[in-house]
Amino acid sequence: MQFSKSFFLAIQIAVTVVSARTVPEGFTKRDAVLDSWVTSQRSVAFDGILANIGPNGANAKGVNAGAIVASPSKSNPDYWYQWTRDSAMTFKVLLNDYLKGNNTLESYLYDYVNESYKLQRTNNPSGNYYTGGIGEPKFHVDGTPYTGGWGRPQNDGPAIRATVLIAFANKLIAKGDTAYVKSKLYDSKLPTEAVIKADLEHVANNWQKNNFDLWEEVNAIHFFTFMVQRRALIEGADLADKLGDSGAATWYRSQANAIAARLPSFWNGAFINEHQGINYRSGTDCATLLGAIHGNGAKGYGLYEPVSDEILLSLEKLVSVMKPLYAINKNTAVGTAIGRYPEDVYDGVGESKAHPWFICTATSADILFQARNKHIANKKITITNLNQGFYRKWVSSATSGQSFAAGSSQFEAITEGLKAYGDSFLARIKLHTANNGDMSEQFNRDTGFQEGAKKLTWSYASFVGAKASRDGNVPY
Ligand code: NOJ
Ligand code: NOJ
Repeated sequence: MQFSKSFFLAIQIAVTVVSARTVPEGFTKRDAVLDSWVTSQRSVAFDGILANIGPNGANAKGVNAGAIVASPSKSNPDYWYQWTRDSAMTFKVLLNDYLKGNNTLESYLYDYVNESYKLQRTNNPSGNYYTGGIGEPKFHVDGTPYTGGWGRPQNDGPAIRATVLIAFANKLIAKGDTAYVKSKLYDSKLPTEAVIKADLEHVANNWQKNNFDLWEEVNAIHFFTFMVQRRALIEGADLADKLGDSGAATWYRSQANAIAARLPSFWNGAFINEHQGINYRSGTDCATLLGAIHGNGAKGYGLYEPVSDEILLSLEKLVSVMKPLYAINKNTAVGTAIGRYPEDVYDGVGESKAHPWFICTATSADILFQARNKHIANKKITITNLNQGFYRKWVSSATSGQSFAAGSSQFEAITEGLKAYGDSFLARIKLHTANNGDMSEQFNRDTGFQEGAKKLTWSYASFVGAKASRDGNVPY
């Protein structure tokens, strides 16, 4: 028998399509076992966060009040420091519960304000607070500067911290405590005397400059950093207006708009390239997904939200490069284990082979849950040229120009599909989480066992965030 060339081509295409599947077969419906694990792990992760906060956290005894250790690990690797970014990402989790009425968390936020105030005014290798020192990425747990070599400055941290403290300020104003806000958080007369104001000034005056990315390796311009900076400036402008600092509000808004104008240049037609100004990376990076989440929050600022075509395509690109990279991804009963970016060599201690990260796998889930929530809120899904391939996972006939209204079978298939796809990443996380709920930074690409810094605070925070989005309560 003779087979034509096109027959082989057809087989090849069929095989490619199957192996490129990004949603595991089993993830088409809800799973009660996963549901209950996610709920119990949420509380373990939350406790894991509190344990890493000074001065009373079980793993942070003697650490400054309001300082969070990135991990209790003091050697191989030494993460016994407070990173501005990790702390802000984590305080955002506490803030969420506080805004929902958990008042026991308020004292942590006041401590955080005090610690931030001190760090901002501590001279360090990035400078003092007039000359860029606010971009210093990490400090000792007693608040003294870290003077060893490091990728500095990193200008995402002050922006995320401002976003957390702006929400805290708005809450305090609503409760009538404007006096505290004006003295400690936002002083229109002395720009450097209040924590939020100092962070906003740093962001507004420095966003155009090269700085190190959130992974602390690339000195350039980054999508993630721009996204969180833009958000801080938008929210900061609103707070400035509220407190009668309208000149500053105008200035922050103009800088937020200038950042927004540059964001589209990161899109390369297929995915968002995380960096600008370097040529040694493919640009596929979980940082982009973090940018969509932390640059938008629950409210959403209209650009590169998790539901956007560009972000969903960037997620798919990341999944497609991570899937063949790690041997553990041969297990297709659960979702793809996701690392930071494909060229990564940081193994959690030194440089060899990088592994998948809890943060990046949880963030992939988070994007899908948030996309689903947005569709449900919008009551409709619009198919475009860009997204039709993505939505064909669940509606094989999806074609640009169509729109599926809530209640239609297509709408149901897509919203349920997004949930299940997100859950596939949580099932992956479940597989590599320790029985006692511990989460380190990474898990081994070949064996699946945990690697790198133990009990990593940010791993817990990213899980708690994904769980909130899964429940339809997108974090602040
Ligand atoms: C430590 C940084 O925190 C990490 O992001 C980086 O990949 C490694 N240093 C590189 O060795
Ligand atoms: C390395 C990560 O790349 C960086 O983002 C993080 O801030 C530090 N570890 C501390 O967790």
